[in-house]
Amino acid sequence: MTQKIIIDCDPGVDDAVAILMALTSPEVEVLGVTTNVGNVSLYKTQLNARRVCEVAGRLDMKVFAGCPRSLFNRFAPESVEDTAYTAADIHGESGLGGSKLPAPTMPLQDEHAVNFIIRTLENSTGDIIMVCTGALTNMATALIMSPQIAAKIQKIVLMGGAIGLGNITPAAEYNFYCDPEAAHVVFTSKIPIVMFGLDVTRQTEFDKKWVDEIEALNSPVAQALVDILSDAFKPGAYAEPGTKGTGKVLHDVNCIAYLINPSLYEGRNVYVEIDTSDTINSGRSTVDWWNKIGKEPNALVMNKVKHEAFFALLTERISRYPKFQKSANGTL
Ligand code: RIB
Ligand code: CA
Repeated sequence: MTQKIIIDCDPGVDDAVAILMALTSPEVEVLGVTTNVGNVSLYKTQLNARRVCEVAGRLDMKVFAGCPRSLFNRFAPESVEDTAYTAADIHGESGLGGSKLPAPTMPLQDEHAVNFIIRTLENSTGDIIMVCTGALTNMATALIMSPQIAAKIQKIVLMGGAIGLGNITPAAEYNFYCDPEAAHVVFTSKIPIVMFGLDVTRQTEFDKKWVDEIEALNSPVAQALVDILSDAFKPGAYAEPGTKGTGKVLHDVNCIAYLINPSLYEGRNVYVEIDTSDTINSGRSTVDWWNKIGKEPNALVMNKVKHEAFFALLTERISRYPKFQKSANGTL
């Protein structure tokens, strides 16, 4: 049965790949794309979300801008172009790596992302899945404004946290680091959570051979994807700590691959607590993997993915986008 989802994200290279996979997969119906600050500023994440929807041929997709800052961040942005934190060293100044996609022509929705999330959930029968691939600020703000929507969320499938070491600090993964209090709100909400932390996402490393396979698909989306990923193999490019190969990781795509084929993953229902202290542990997700404290589990935490099957699925889904059209004289 088709799963209705809202993708809340901060595109972001891997967010962009997740959106492209979702938009060509009949297992999910994307009701809207909401954005917040994270990898780059909100101004850029909403632009990037529209660029990606547009190249996917989905100019009908509703894209919303959400929160330009985290719940308790002491940095007060002067505008949506300001941001207290950035991962431009990983995702590029634009947030979409080496993307050559033009400025979007499709509109940004006037409605605030949080209001869209609340309105859509309130009007639903409780069959909507929230897919969160950035900081959880929009999700937490929606729950704070309208606690009753918690009963309307079938589950939250999120990329964030770690059983082991973080990536932005020894303790924290980037999404939870950006807004620890928002992660705390979500993990204490009693909403069913499926957590894709670094322990499993680090297993979805890609290499140049796979990018070449994508390029051979010979479509505007495939070419856009190749461009977006093109910075990954430049000398000195970021390598995700704790990886075993190239260090180029498609963290967020795991959320969509799971919805399409849950059998790709293994995990465990465990208790997870978020550290909101103003210390080196800020943003840490402490995962009671061995059930040492006996608290009620609040998340299905994944720790294994079938690497080959994951990339075979992703490649097959990207292959579904329309090919470049040859003109009458055979040129593209
Ligand atoms: O730590 C990885 C996460 O942070 C991913 O969601 C990536 O897009 C960045 O947002
Ligand atoms: Ca992200």
